[in-house]
Amino acid sequence: MPVRLARRFRFSSSHLYRRPEWSEEENFRRFGKCANLPGHGHNYRLTVTVGGEVDPATGFVAELQGLDELVGREVLDRLDHHHLNDVIPEFAAGRQLPTSENLALWIADRLNRKLPAELRLISVLVAEDEDLAAEWLRD
Ligand code: NI
Repeated sequence: MPVRLARRFRFSSSHLYRRPEWSEEENFRRFGKCANLPGHGHNYRLTVTVGGEVDPATGFVAELQGLDELVGREVLDRLDHHHLNDVIPEFAAGRQLPTSENLALWIADRLNRKLPAELRLISVLVAEDEDLAAEWLRD
C-alpha cells in the first residue's frame, strides 16, 4: 500500500522576466514590474512529494536525511541566494524564463533523475509567495 510523503523546503532567489528579442514596450506590456532591471527576489517554498511503500522496520516511506541531502545538493544549493537567470543555464537570457512553472519543471527533472528507485516523485510545488504557486504533477 503506497503512501505519499510531503517535505517542505525554502530558498530565496531573485529573477527577471525579460525576453531580449522583444522591445522594452513589449517586455513591460507582458511582464509589468517583473521586467524591471536587475530583477527582484522571492522567499520560495518548495514542497516535494514522493510516494512509495512504507518500510515495515522503520515506518518510513523515505529516509528523510537522504531526501534532504538530495534536494539540498540538486536543487537548493543551485538556487538559494542566487539570481536564477545568471546561474541556471536553462534560464539564461533568450532561453526559458525562471517562472514558478519553469522552476517546478526544472526541479522535477533533476529529482526524477536522482531519486532512489524505491521512491516515485509525485509532485513538485513551487510557491513564490502566499498567493502564487505552480505544481509539476506526475500524470
Ligand atoms: Ni517574481
